[in-house]
Amino acid sequence: MPKTIVDLVILNAKQLLTMVPSESDEEGENPLGIIEDGAVAVKDGKIFAVGKTNDVLAQIDFKKDTVQIDADGKVVMPGFVDPHTHVVFKGTREREFILRHQGVPYMKILKEENTGIISTVRWTRKAKFEELLEITKKHISEMIDWGTTTLEIKSGYGLNLEEEIKILRIARYLGEHSPLNIKTTLLAAHIIPPEYHMRDEKYVDLVISDIIPIIAKNGLADFNDVWCEKGAFTREQAKKILRVGIKNGLIPKVHADEMSDAGGAKLAAEVKAISADHLTYASEEGLEKMKEAGVVAVLLPVTTFSLGKDKFADGGKMVEMGLTVALGTDYNPGTSMCPSMPLVISFAVVRLKMDIVSALYGATLNAAKAIGLENEVGSLEVGKRANVNVLNIKNYEEIPYRIGENYVETVISNGEILKGGPNA
Ligand code: NIG
Ligand code: FE
Repeated sequence: MPKTIVDLVILNAKQLLTMVPSESDEEGENPLGIIEDGAVAVKDGKIFAVGKTNDVLAQIDFKKDTVQIDADGKVVMPGFVDPHTHVVFKGTREREFILRHQGVPYMKILKEENTGIISTVRWTRKAKFEELLEITKKHISEMIDWGTTTLEIKSGYGLNLEEEIKILRIARYLGEHSPLNIKTTLLAAHIIPPEYHMRDEKYVDLVISDIIPIIAKNGLADFNDVWCEKGAFTREQAKKILRVGIKNGLIPKVHADEMSDAGGAKLAAEVKAISADHLTYASEEGLEKMKEAGVVAVLLPVTTFSLGKDKFADGGKMVEMGLTVALGTDYNPGTSMCPSMPLVISFAVVRLKMDIVSALYGATLNAAKAIGLENEVGSLEVGKRANVNVLNIKNYEEIPYRIGENYVETVISNGEILKGGPNA
């Protein structure tokens, strides 16, 4: 058989996590599809071959500049997928974090004039496109350092047409001008902006009649999200906004049941959202309905931790119920200045009561499902985009165990090396 010349190859991995269980594994003994002494070869930004090192070597040839990475003694896995971020913002809110942990509730801070989401909106509106782009690049470079190669980016700190457009243009620009895989979400319905104080319905009208149609027409967003919560948007308002989104071709998502059971999970099922996110207080009935409707549950445990709450979403139960459970950072200046999916996995195992296999799917293939990219990313399969991490650990169980340690040594997205490489 003629051999194919490849651009990059990773060889000799102690454990290569494909996230594709083999068909012969009827007992489910290898749910992560681990290949020992594994290799993955890359051509034109895509995965060309995956398997035992000898089998991959038998299929490939080298050119002068083929990159060879020796993963001897290490773990290789798909790049992390972060399905819920608010990375486009200016300004940080560390004082609020401290205040919260001295007893001031998040929802009280939110209601003030110059703190909470509103303060981020003010800073973000003032920043010019180029400045905000540079800040966002910095946030994302931290995520890459922790192995994230695919992410969803929400707007929601503009809260008027012009500013939501600015934020989503930055997200789209990064999707088009970087090797990362990026999906974008309109979150015009994050909170009611200050200029519409006590005129909620007028803002909902603006979102419905102007913001959604124009954003959709210009191809700036893939999804349409609403924060359904007392103090943000009611169930009725949220439903209206999501339905108009659907008519305009935007797939619904919901910030659901984060601070209380506001019926967000049920709403997500009703509108057939691609995902419902947070779900800390979701009712059992809501979760059942989500399962029936095929809504992915996106859990964001670092947010719960940062809010100082004792109650975390019950990820273990959701897995048991048969829901597709994904994990994300929720990177934002209010509740999660956390770029690290490995840390999220630690939280999932410790506080969401998820088993390690579910947590690893949550950070890869299931997260890809939450943003409609499961055929492109999230597993190591021939033909998928070459998003691969080399971890300087000897087995996958160390991923949640090494809390806060950055063992991500090499990061490859669409075949491009973003961190590390042959000499890492
Ligand atoms: O997902 N819940 C609403 N939005 C964000 C927080 C945004 C902020 O505080 O700036 C979240 O937690
Ligand atoms: Fe969020």
